[in-house]
Amino acid sequence: MALHRLTSVCIGVPNVADTATYYEEFGLTRLDDSAGPRGDDPPRPPDRLEVRFATVDGGEQLRLVPSTRRQLVELGIGVDDPDDLRSVASRLGGLGVDVKQTPAAISATDPGTGVRVVLSVADPLDSHPAPVIAQNAPGRPDRGTSRAEPILRTNPVRPRKLGHVVLGSVELEASERFFIQGVGFKVSDRVPDAASFLRCSTDHHNLLVQAAPIPFLHHSSWQVDDVDEVGRGAHALLQKDPARHVWGLGRHHIGSNFFWYLKDPAGNFTEYYADMDCIIDDQLWDPGVWTDLRALYNWGPPVPGPFLAPDDLAELMVAAHNP
Ligand SMILES: [Fe+2]
Repeated sequence: MALHRLTSVCIGVPNVADTATYYEEFGLTRLDDSAGPRGDDPPRPPDRLEVRFATVDGGEQLRLVPSTRRQLVELGIGVDDPDDLRSVASRLGGLGVDVKQTPAAISATDPGTGVRVVLSVADPLDSHPAPVIAQNAPGRPDRGTSRAEPILRTNPVRPRKLGHVVLGSVELEASERFFIQGVGFKVSDRVPDAASFLRCSTDHHNLLVQAAPIPFLHHSSWQVDDVDEVGRGAHALLQKDPARHVWGLGRHHIGSNFFWYLKDPAGNFTEYYADMDCIIDDQLWDPGVWTDLRALYNWGPPVPGPFLAPDDLAELMVAAHNP
């Protein structure tokens, strides 16, 4: 696969310091902050503060930057070699998209989501396999005489990697054309006239573009080892502030993953996920079309209204028209 993974996201928020604290508590590793890129630099003022974060397997994958409204500024995608960059540039050019090229990367902006997409040559993700946990089941006491391993865990939850982002697009067809025909994402599943689940790796989806009245970041999603880590991560965040809860625990139908959504101080949703479908062999996957509740989930609490239309949508629309 020429495209092989998401590399990083850059999220703009009005309150970088508060939002950075949230992502630290979410389990990402903070790499630097107001000290600036070098330790001897003077501290940056709040309106210039940038903070970078790493995941366990993915390295640096999140950058928070100041912005008048919350938004996904940049989405990074890794490709195998420079030929892939030339191919993508050629396809995007064929769609009439303006492509900026440097020796190491190309970038272009999707008109529907307003997101700058940057493709660069990147190493494959070095994922260390999660341990297999013995689970008891009827007629199968696999654990023997011992307590369940997950209840003995005391370490903080640490996301393994950035899994996917979900973006609102004001021109869904244009965004689908940009990402599928231009960038080279593959379609895993679709909700007609509403959303497309797209992949640039063997994960079921790395990007979901959905029709929206304004371009906005719906959520970023971060992989953890298993459903217990989904629950433990959310539990720890909610103990600090129950108002962070959005939706969970549940299991999606599209992609099959367990989920729990929480909200950062800027209003962006963040998802812990585990056990997502993988598409190892494209020939064996049959993309589906979903028009009922399975488009949203398989089981879980009822879908909360703000998950479908975040509380700050009207505010974001005003901000977008008065930059
Ligand atoms: Fe998600």
